[in-house]
Amino acid sequence: MSTPPAPPVALITGASSGIGAALARELAGRGYRLVLVARRIERLTALATEVGGEAAALPLACDVRDRAAVERVAAVALDRWGRLDLLVLNAGVGGPTPFPDFDMETATRVVETNLMGALQWLAPCLPPLTAAGGTVVAISSLAGRFGSPKSPVYSASKAALSTLFEGMRVACRELPITVLTVEPGWVVTEMTAKMGRLPFAVSAEAAAGRIAEAVAHRRTRLAFPRPAGWLIAVVGRLPAAWRERLLRLRDRR
Ligand SMILES: NC(=O)c1ccc[n+]([C@@H]2O[C@H](COP(=O)([O-])OP(=O)(O)OC[C@H]3O[C@@H](n4cnc5c(N)ncnc54)[C@H](OP(=O)(O)O)[C@@H]3O)[C@@H](O)[C@H]2O)c1
Repeated sequence: MSTPPAPPVALITGASSGIGAALARELAGRGYRLVLVARRIERLTALATEVGGEAAALPLACDVRDRAAVERVAAVALDRWGRLDLLVLNAGVGGPTPFPDFDMETATRVVETNLMGALQWLAPCLPPLTAAGGTVVAISSLAGRFGSPKSPVYSASKAALSTLFEGMRVACRELPITVLTVEPGWVVTEMTAKMGRLPFAVSAEAAAGRIAEAVAHRRTRLAFPRPAGWLIAVVGRLPAAWRERLLRLRDRR
């Protein structure tokens, strides 16, 4: 009798809440073994227990801004399961950074988490991902398609993440690895809890389902929900002066 193939392994950053936690549940249901990464270890441990305990999930505390910690955690994860099929770079923070009262502390946290906190996983994880013919996913944002007047640094961090992944996708086109950029619109999570009305918002579970399907079909780009994606695409094609006029109207609200 032949032995069944080993289950695929996914490492998810920012797995302690929102999209990351919902994706962990979704992937566990699809037969993945999980490495759950975030700072709030008690939440990761509870989630690991929920999806099947030690045999199914490994919770690891890590601040993704800390490069040495990222490299250590990547090594522990690889040692535990011996392979990596899916890396989801999801950890992220928002925060208002309006001008002219510019808050450099918030700005630094946003860039270090959303950009460096994703970039730092690539060196230790791309070799095992390529060996497994796997997928690397960036959870970017539709907010990266334009400069948000209220959170321009968040927009900039997500624009940088999206262009990083676009370049990597082209550079890695001959390699057995899929490079997927995900651009959600509004998703109902802790990050958006205090934001009031969220046009076209979807649940974290719905977002997780869309992301898991995109991974399963080896897609390279995903923007959702569709109406928000279309709207942003149309706005993106406007002449720059018209686009800025629209952003000014939005900023007044
Ligand atoms: N919600 C939306 O509308 C929306 C839209 C577009 C894109 N996104 C993106 O989706 C991703 C997930 O966000 P979410 O909406 O699910 O928000 P969330 O519920 O606040 O989740 C953010 C996750 O990131 C983790 N995280 C933050 N800073 C970290 C750090 N320094 N080190 C390690 N982990 C860190 C948090 O865990 P700990 O606090 O435990 O460390 C948490 O698990 C983010 O990249 C966000 O930018 C969200």
